[in-house]
Amino acid sequence: MRITIIGAGYVGLVSGTCFAEFGHEVTCVDKDENKIQSLSQGIIPIYEPRLETLVKENAERKRLKFTTDIKAAISEADVIYIAVGTPNRRGDGYADLSYVHEVTEAIGQSLRKYAVIATKSTVPVGTGQKIITHLKQINPNLEFDVVSNPEFLREGSAIEDFMKPDRVIVGANSPRAIELMHELYRPLLIQEVPILFTNLETAELIKYASNAFLATKIAFINEIADLCEKCNADIQAVSKGMGMDKRIGEKFLHPGPGYGGSCFPKDTLALTFTAKEFQSPLSIIETVVRSNKQRKESIAHRIIEVMDGCVSEKTIAVLGVTFKPNTDDMRESPSLDIIPALQSKGAKIHVYDPQGQKEGLALLPEVKWCLDPYTAIEGADSLVIITEWQEFGALDLARIKNLLNSPVVIDLRNIYQPQEMEKAGFTYYSIGRASVKPLKSSLVKAA
Ligand code: NAD
Ligand code: UGA
Repeated sequence: MRITIIGAGYVGLVSGTCFAEFGHEVTCVDKDENKIQSLSQGIIPIYEPRLETLVKENAERKRLKFTTDIKAAISEADVIYIAVGTPNRRGDGYADLSYVHEVTEAIGQSLRKYAVIATKSTVPVGTGQKIITHLKQINPNLEFDVVSNPEFLREGSAIEDFMKPDRVIVGANSPRAIELMHELYRPLLIQEVPILFTNLETAELIKYASNAFLATKIAFINEIADLCEKCNADIQAVSKGMGMDKRIGEKFLHPGPGYGGSCFPKDTLALTFTAKEFQSPLSIIETVVRSNKQRKESIAHRIIEVMDGCVSEKTIAVLGVTFKPNTDDMRESPSLDIIPALQSKGAKIHVYDPQGQKEGLALLPEVKWCLDPYTAIEGADSLVIITEWQEFGALDLARIKNLLNSPVVIDLRNIYQPQEMEKAGFTYYSIGRASVKPLKSSLVKAA
């Protein structure tokens, strides 16, 4: 089957590569000429585990190609995916569909034979119907079906998530489109991955409702972590105990500095606007949006508080600035709230992140970028862990203690155990964990 993916970003590139791996013939289109040039040479513009190898292998087998020629790519395809960005619109937070409209226009101008047009971009409920209307306005004789096929992959484990998803959701109204989508996903269906067919609107809403529910779990556990700090309970055990109930589930109950990334913040906000448009407000999600924003903003104050209320002229070593591990993506990362707030109070920031420097350079001015954790830590007045990269779980604690000016560690991801840090001689603060001493601040002090 011939597939064209329009938009070769995190989702388009991963989806296209995985469809090629399934054996389909895939063309990825992007309007960014530099990106297409790099991809054609096997240079991957993003960091995503396993992606580079799969792109190279499938390009060599001639199943995956890259182009800026959108017209040709549209006219050849059986299935055309729209995988462009849908950021929050400036000023109001509603999903900005201008890229989707741009691509719909191009499809309307270039479609020559029947094709399924599938949205993989996260689009508000009703967008599929708007695409149908738009295409019919361009040319009433076009032969096509529009389906919604939302994507649930996570950055950092995108290939695995795409190849072994919990489910595939397809919103489609025509038997012809349903048959084609079945064919497209046959390699997954053989592995008994469930596929749920719904109407267009339902599939569109499943995507937003899923992201909003996961974001709610995180905001919920973060507030419970705050309560733990006040009442000498241990959030790790609370999450574990809750998660043992299969109706709740153990996933997405890890407290931290607030959720970031290109999707939860934008999709929760956009969903609240959609709901208001339909005069069916989502007060729970509105609260989640507010709660997460406040959390990200509050973390810097907590750090300042545990550093005796003053960070002026003090050096803070930061480990991890990406919004989660195993990605270079900095979009909406909590570090973008925390670091500038500390800098505004006079702190000097030394950073190490395994992949974050490329994106972070422009976003975090005036920080000193270091090539390894120990260089960042040397001479610092405290160490703050913002992102839980795996390598931060095996730091040489004795070496860190020697390198730090004062042995203060603020672990925003609960990587370490309070007892082991106390034993190693640190004044250790983490999130929502039972303290051995009365609490001085809303971060828990272990020594
Ligand atoms: P991205 O910004 O990484 O990539 C979008 C790409 O589209 C860019 O390369 C851009 O140049 C290209 N583009 C824009 N307009 C174009 C046009 N007219 N013609 C050709 N190319 C064009 O975005 P992303 O993170 O891949 O997200 C894409 C969509 O997928 C969003 O709606 C997002 O919510 C959704 N989504 C993202 C993830 C994720 O993990 N990033 C997961 C699931 C769903
Ligand atoms: C999320 C969803 O998990 C995907 O299913 C979805 O496809 C994607 O959004 C999307 O629509 O783009 P992603 O943002 O890549 O994926 O990463 P997550 O693993 O969900 O993490 C998001 C944020 O939540 C990160 O900042 C992470 O640190 C935070 N998080 C996650 C927590 O603070 N606690 C948790 O328990 C889990």
